[in-house]
Amino acid sequence: MAISKPASHGNVRKPTTRPANPRFSSGPCAKPPGFKLDNLSDAPLGRSHRAAVGKAKLKAAIEETRDLLGVPADYRIGIVPASDTGAVEMAMWSMLGARKATMVAWESFGAGWVTDVVKQLKIDAEVKTAEYGQIVDMASVDYDTDVVFTWNGTTSGVRMPNGDAIPADRDGLTICDATSAAFAQDLPWDKLDVTTFSWQKVLGGEAAHGMLILSPRAVERLETYTPAWPLPKVFRLTKGGKLIEGIFVGETINTPSMLAVEDYLQALDWARSVGGLKGLMARADANAQAIFAFCEGNDWIANLADDPATRSNTSVCLKFTDDRISDGAVFAKAVAKRLESEGVALDIGAYRDAPAGLRIWCGGTVETSDIEAMLPWLDWAFHAEIEALAQAA
Ligand SMILES: Cc1ncc(COP(=O)(O)O)c(C=O)c1O
Repeated sequence: MAISKPASHGNVRKPTTRPANPRFSSGPCAKPPGFKLDNLSDAPLGRSHRAAVGKAKLKAAIEETRDLLGVPADYRIGIVPASDTGAVEMAMWSMLGARKATMVAWESFGAGWVTDVVKQLKIDAEVKTAEYGQIVDMASVDYDTDVVFTWNGTTSGVRMPNGDAIPADRDGLTICDATSAAFAQDLPWDKLDVTTFSWQKVLGGEAAHGMLILSPRAVERLETYTPAWPLPKVFRLTKGGKLIEGIFVGETINTPSMLAVEDYLQALDWARSVGGLKGLMARADANAQAIFAFCEGNDWIANLADDPATRSNTSVCLKFTDDRISDGAVFAKAVAKRLESEGVALDIGAYRDAPAGLRIWCGGTVETSDIEAMLPWLDWAFHAEIEALAQAA
């Protein structure tokens, strides 16, 4: 058998060890280690989600979420349609307009919520934005207005360092898109009135279902305020001025996928097996730390997030900083393609609206050993593309 010579670029040899799992997409994210479709055999397929068996599964998904995330007993948790977007939209459309709003955005998803509130709902809002890599000064926000923000900006890799800037005593509501933060970052429940996430992010679940977590003050808003605009059925959380409590015990507005519910329950079981929330946070931290150390050791790559305190431990966004690169977007795409064609890193190109670069998912379902096995390949691919540039010149 012919033994092929390992290709080398500059001084960098093609690595020989590959990640066991090359899936580093920021959504849908890697399934929990050990995942098999067979694990889902207890899903009540072909049964009504309103049958006792279906309702019990949905209720378990809610209560186990509460338990793992430490959500206070007096907060409601509901499973709602249309993934994280559905959960954020139903909150904004149901609650905003009662008072002035402050829309805070530092990347693409936050910017999307700004557009909806300003252009669709046409609410009186102050808009505070920061460039990719930066964060808005959350201490400058007026919390007597309703504040909408994203805890972890998935497309810039910039996260809230903590909730200290948000006063526990405030008149407005805080509506927080936490989809790439929940299960990886500490969420201070007393600072959050509406919190949303989807299953396919940090737990590697399946898409299409949103989680909506409401504080008692958010419920009070729902029961005392009726927006001036009509609400479609999939957004309606109240009936006759009262909260539809059934939604928060698993009586979903419309039909959920019981296969996806089973998958979420399995992911929650796995989360418990790695130490629950603390264990998941430690896994994400270790993954991100491996990349931060790689950036420190290489002067051609850097974290897009300027302030280390704001660096995400889930969606780690990187930029190439080598002067020999003239077209950053073409270069980053070529690196990502080279890694994908080697089967060592899938889906790691930066988000379409974000600055050119890479985005590597580091949430808890990713194994640190896979990140560590992938990084030498990134080194190799970078040098291969630099050499290709030199040859083309
Ligand atoms: C911060 C943030 N908000 C919203 C979304 C949209 O989520 P979904 O596709 O679950 O609606 C994403 C998806 O990546 C996200 O990262």
